[in-house]
Amino acid sequence: MTEYKVALIPGDGIGKEVVAEGVRILNRVTELDDRISFSFTEYPWGCQYYLEHGEMMPKDGIETLKNYDAILLGAVGYPGVPDHISLRDLLLRIRHDFDEYINLRPVKLLKGADCPLKDVPREDIDMIFVRENSEGEYAGSGAWLYPDSEQEVVIQNGVFSRKGCERVIRYAYELARKEKKTLTSVSKGNALNYSMVFWDKIFREVGKDYPDVETHTLLVDAASMFMVKDPKRLQVVVTSNLFGDILTDLGAAISGGMGLAAGANLNPEKKFPSMFEPIHGSAPDIAGKGIANPLATIWTCGQMLDFFGYEEWGKKIVDAIEQMLVEKIALTPDQGGTASTQECGKALAELLH
Ligand code: NAD
Ligand code: IPM
Ligand code: MN
Repeated sequence: MTEYKVALIPGDGIGKEVVAEGVRILNRVTELDDRISFSFTEYPWGCQYYLEHGEMMPKDGIETLKNYDAILLGAVGYPGVPDHISLRDLLLRIRHDFDEYINLRPVKLLKGADCPLKDVPREDIDMIFVRENSEGEYAGSGAWLYPDSEQEVVIQNGVFSRKGCERVIRYAYELARKEKKTLTSVSKGNALNYSMVFWDKIFREVGKDYPDVETHTLLVDAASMFMVKDPKRLQVVVTSNLFGDILTDLGAAISGGMGLAAGANLNPEKKFPSMFEPIHGSAPDIAGKGIANPLATIWTCGQMLDFFGYEEWGKKIVDAIEQMLVEKIALTPDQGGTASTQECGKALAELLH
């Protein structure tokens, strides 16, 4: 039996509610599969912690997390603490310091999930986003000069390194090859004359090693239009940090909503722990009501099992989510049901076998 050490960072708002259901599902898997066991350690880091301690996590937080095989995170950010502090000092810090340079986000319209697009066959919405997750527009490089004066200037640099672009693009090519899917690079070279021209160049360069992979390139504005008008044009998608962030919320909107949108922050070399989290935030508007949809977090637990090499469990979890949607079993209000977060999680645990 292999024991996986998982650090839990429920974080803020509904993060706490949904992480509890993720843990329920991982525990259920260990009951059903005697090859796998989990040990969980919970860390109370987040905005409440910041208000009490003046920091989002202790100074040795990153050192502490290094000892784990994976991190399950709920959501970070809450009114009362500025977002650029809470997110940069916890979530983005972990993604960066653990070199989780791949953010893998499925945009797949599961059977039974609601789609606001008309005349689009369900199977046309089946994408996987490979978002650059360590640099780009999120590098945190810049300056704020002459604050509160007439000369005030802010500079926010995008940082695109050869290493950073090559590795994420190569990962996407490998994925497209493995899945026998097309690969689309989304960029914006017509306006961003350094970063995105460079990105496009690297996309072509790396592509020389993958003559068998059918590729497309789209400008990000056109890509967002096609996601709505003709989503089947996108299969495996590789893009920069900020574009990937925005397009995957659009992706969530066309594939059942934020409550179903999962993502994995991967360090593929496993030199550091990878982090699994739903793509939604702390949802202050519904926090504490017990109605948050835990299925995105549960799907991300499926991604964790995929990453550990138990792809059959990743598939079983997605199948069970789909069954719940089709048969309308214990769905939360965002999916048109009346179930609580816990009822939804428990129902999914019962469906696993
Ligand atoms: P949000 O994702 O928290 O909420 C957007 C909308 O979606 C809200 O109406 C919310 O109720 C709904 N929603 C989200 N998840 C849901 C779920 N599981 N079930 C049902 N409904 C759900 O985005 P926001 O309001 O822009 O951000 C709130 C806070 O979260 C901010 O501080 C933001 O910076 C932070 N945030 C954190 C993460 C993260 O930790 N990964 C991601 C996005 C936003
Ligand atoms: C996400 C979130 C984060 C991001 C924020 C909270 C920093 O929106 O995970 O999609 O932009 O990456
Ligand atoms: Mn986002």
